[in-house]
Amino acid sequence: MLAASLIGCRRAGSSDAASAPAAPAAPVAPTKAVGLVVPLRAPNDSEIPSGALGTSVRRGRALLAATRDSLPAFAPGKLRCVSCHLDEGRRANASPFVGVYARYPNYNARSGHPYTIQDRINDCFRRSLNGRALPADGSDMRDMVVYFAWLSHGVPVGAAVEGQGLPKLTPLAGDTASGRALFGEQCARCHGADGAGTAVAPPLWGRASFNIGAGMSRLRTAAAFIRYNMPFDRPGSLTDQQAFDVAAFVTSRPRPDFAGKENDWPNGDAPPDVAYRTRAAPRKSAGSQ
Ligand code: HEC
Ligand code: HEC
Repeated sequence: MLAASLIGCRRAGSSDAASAPAAPAAPVAPTKAVGLVVPLRAPNDSEIPSGALGTSVRRGRALLAATRDSLPAFAPGKLRCVSCHLDEGRRANASPFVGVYARYPNYNARSGHPYTIQDRINDCFRRSLNGRALPADGSDMRDMVVYFAWLSHGVPVGAAVEGQGLPKLTPLAGDTASGRALFGEQCARCHGADGAGTAVAPPLWGRASFNIGAGMSRLRTAAAFIRYNMPFDRPGSLTDQQAFDVAAFVTSRPRPDFAGKENDWPNGDAPPDVAYRTRAAPRKSAGSQ
């Protein structure tokens, strides 16, 4: 398949292609490079290097697991990084960190500019943890990046890892009434009837939860996370429709605001499930009047 399209490209670029301009259209169609996808393989602790580098790997991992206790000024709520990036960032379909170091820098549509891995980490501090950006040149940030790099060993730069990010579900409309009932049956025992969290699970809404600017505040993102990862002790037991219903209920609940959210997606390409208006979206349609 790949070989055939390469031949097609070469033929399209050759000098005699000019004499038959209509013919190459089909063979040259796959102009986008086929990305390399590698299996998700998290290294074992026995592979942690000795010395200062290994200390940094372990410290970075500890910060992800005890974020609010270690960095209260930056993560004042009740979430920690691994509340969503499960198994210390090793679990497929829960936005794993395996390979994440090989994906940055990249283009970030929400901000409209290229992102370093530090920029991306800080988006989760400011939005998912409803906190503050960590200094990019400090030792806490350095240790987190070192842990991500260790988890990503062997993943080629630019490659995708199986199970990276969250799976894409076919979008469905969520029914908040049915979601409320499902929440009571399936979620409240751990997350609390008021969604504020318990000793065993973090809050889903309210003051100590993620803010409106977080990815988890989007219906599709929340539905995908819940469909594959919740209930925590029975992941995969909900149908897609149930995941959308309970996600619609959870994302409809009050949570902290995010200052400046209207500046997100400055090129007008906000996904349809973003829960707030962005400035660029109306401007874009105004431009075509
Ligand atoms: C409320 C849930 C939540 C919490 C808490 C959270 N994140 Fe995230 N994070 C997400 C979501 C959702 C994404 C985007 C996943 C996707 O669709 O690819 C993401 C993406 C990321 C990415 C980019 C991953 C990639 O594949 O490019 C990094 C890095 C990251 N988070 C780091 C952190 C760190 C560090 C913390 C703690 C300071 C944290 N996150 C806390 C939900 C969360
Ligand atoms: C058996 C207990 C349990 C049940 C039941 C459960 N969860 Fe969770 N949930 C957890 C735990 C524990 C975490 C965080 C994992 C960690 O910190 O290691 C979590 C994390 C989450 C998160 C991301 C972090 C946050 O607080 O926003 C969401 C969203 C979520 N659960 C939604 C749900 C929904 C919706 C249901 C019901 C369909 C549900 N959970 C049922 C235990 C549970």
